[in-house]
Amino acid sequence: MANEFATELAPWQQALESPYSDQLKRFVYQNQEEALAASLPHVLIPIPAKGTVMGHSSPHQTGDLRCCDILFRGPMYDLTSHQSSIPPKAPVRGAHRHISAPTLFCISGKGWEFNDGTTYTFELYDLLVVPPYTVHQHGGDRDIGCQIHVPQTRMIDALGVLHREQIKFGEKPTFPQGTEPLKDDAGKLIGYKIKKGVLGITEDLDVYLGPTPNIEAVFNSRRHQPPWQEEVENTYDRYLKLLHDEVEFCNETTHVIRYEEQPWEWTRQGRLKWLVHPGIACSARRVWIYMQEISPGGRSGKHRHVAEEQVFVINGRGYDIHDGERWNWQKGDIISVPAMTEHQHFNADTESPALIFGALPSMCTDLGLGGIEQIEDAPDYLENMEKGR
Ligand SMILES: [Fe+2]
Ligand SMILES: [Fe+2]
Repeated sequence: MANEFATELAPWQQALESPYSDQLKRFVYQNQEEALAASLPHVLIPIPAKGTVMGHSSPHQTGDLRCCDILFRGPMYDLTSHQSSIPPKAPVRGAHRHISAPTLFCISGKGWEFNDGTTYTFELYDLLVVPPYTVHQHGGDRDIGCQIHVPQTRMIDALGVLHREQIKFGEKPTFPQGTEPLKDDAGKLIGYKIKKGVLGITEDLDVYLGPTPNIEAVFNSRRHQPPWQEEVENTYDRYLKLLHDEVEFCNETTHVIRYEEQPWEWTRQGRLKWLVHPGIACSARRVWIYMQEISPGGRSGKHRHVAEEQVFVINGRGYDIHDGERWNWQKGDIISVPAMTEHQHFNADTESPALIFGALPSMCTDLGLGGIEQIEDAPDYLENMEKGR
């Protein structure tokens, strides 16, 4: 967005020089931002996967995790997602680790996930949850491969804890435009170089494989702590104990939320299967996740919540109504429901059910903004209630 105050001055100097108050700027910029959000489409065709140093992955669908990429393609401030595409007999993907716990949903095929030395297998519609600080790597079944959808929130960046490290490259890495492999004197691949000029950098930037030395102690202490044995005598002790409890929980909790193990529930919004919410024990905390099935020719309930929502269409074709406006969708699309929008999903196919996958930022619930306002109940739910009487 154009900034009329853009000068050679540092931001704090600009603030001193500007004739306008921050409060005025806030209202002007918010107004411009809302106009931008209103101009963006609510249904997006996914950006396809391409070669990276990890393997075949798509860019983030509604902007990268850095907050400056908000309102990039759709009207999303916090949520984004990306996909890994692993064809049969694909080269082995790379491994990395970061602070936040990712959720990886299998949308086709099946495969495996390696987390800090343990390998877990997953099937269609299972959800992998990698605990924080964990080295992770995934792969597809050799014969059928797999495709993985990863919903994410940018909140982690706003908190200053986006730190991530590339531990291993993929078996056949692709070095994207503007970068080249970095080798040591013996010719061993040790990282990659981002060339001067890329995104305005004035010198080459070297990115090395492996843990960041000064962060290693932090990651280690948060992966390895014995159970807390002492008394909790004051408020500060609660937080000392919390670290031990978090480590113990992550070491014991499941890494795979199995599709078959979670129940379908009839709700006023329709037929839902929750995969991540506070009642399911797992280390995922960034987004609440559910699947929804809409019967042939049917529709969901109509509701509204403060949090924005990003919905991936697993199967089927239909449309949404967002505050009275229609948005068509089909298999593979990503629906962006802006914050505070009344919305309802319609299955346009009278022969087959539609299957969708929704993610909402969990942070709204933590802020006391998590409640849902039901405006109309799903007809399938009402019919089901009637039958049950
Ligand atoms: Fe990751
Ligand atoms: Fe919703």
